[in-house]
Amino acid sequence: HTITEGKVSYKSPSNIALVKYWGKKENQLPQNPSISFTLDACATTTKISFKRLNKPSEEYSFDLLFEGNSKEDFKPKIKIFFTRIEVYLPFLKEYHFTIETSNSFPHSSGIASSASGMSALALCLVALEKQLNPEMSDDFFTKKVSFLARLGSGSACRSIEGDIVQWGNHENTEGSSDLFGIKYPYKVHDNFKRFHDTILLVDKGQKQVSSTVGHNLMHNHPFATQRFKQAHENLDKLIAVFESGDLKEFIAIVESEALTLHAMMMTSMPNFILMKPNTLEIINKIWEFREKSNSNVCFTLDAGANVHVLYPENEKDVVFQFIKDELIGYCENQQYICDRIGFGAKQ
Ligand code: PMV
Repeated sequence: HTITEGKVSYKSPSNIALVKYWGKKENQLPQNPSISFTLDACATTTKISFKRLNKPSEEYSFDLLFEGNSKEDFKPKIKIFFTRIEVYLPFLKEYHFTIETSNSFPHSSGIASSASGMSALALCLVALEKQLNPEMSDDFFTKKVSFLARLGSGSACRSIEGDIVQWGNHENTEGSSDLFGIKYPYKVHDNFKRFHDTILLVDKGQKQVSSTVGHNLMHNHPFATQRFKQAHENLDKLIAVFESGDLKEFIAIVESEALTLHAMMMTSMPNFILMKPNTLEIINKIWEFREKSNSNVCFTLDAGANVHVLYPENEKDVVFQFIKDELIGYCENQQYICDRIGFGAKQ
């Protein structure tokens, strides 16, 4: 099958890890399994127009437009990605691609766009492959997209499906793999349906440490072995928590994972403190509020200063009021993003 020209387009969300991926082996394989909520509002939309070349080009042939403007500084990232995935998509040098991409969230928000961006790109490329090979099954499509997205950015492999995705070999999760993310296969209590995630933008600046550098710091890290073991244990505990709906235990695991991620950065060599004073103020306010109201609001963090405030649907009014009254003041320019659990990428 050959196709001379056409278009593909996908919108793919970001995700927020509950058990964190931090540390990788060769070929973007994780040192420990991780699990995340797929988000809904924070997403990247990518459209690729492709045109078959008269003869295959020596180098990858593509133009890149980010929110309507040509984006030369992103091109090397895409080139590296293409180099990694070409063995799995042998047609890459046979086409010229015009890649147009945009994010639903402000670019200087400190929100990483690698998960949504790399998954959207992988989706478009495998969609083109599916046009060339229409027999491809839906299941194969999803797995291949996740597999390729992983090679762009590890956490991107958890962004294709919703609403809870696990990535990485874990003894007690059937079908789990280091190679791609899978939809969480066990029972999930209604308490976790459509959970909210309000992202507080504490610091919108450039990341002090790229995740590549961060993952590498887990080589020779004094606590690495213990940390990787803990991730497996937390996943075991989460299986029971998701089934029973035990929000107290959920909070204990999720907040411990967030603080452990930062503890790993503080105890690596070189070391990093990515939390800001306002990150700590927010955490303390959340703890205080929980103490006095018996709410099930909790926080998690990525490799940065922003705080993800997680809470169940039935507490949304009370918690959102608390966020507005007591937390927004700690955000840079009072900025925050209202998000919630989503159901994965869409065409
Ligand atoms: O996908 P990467 O290489 O940018 O790593 C992401 C790492 C964390 O966001 C800190 C944790 C995670 O599991 O998403």
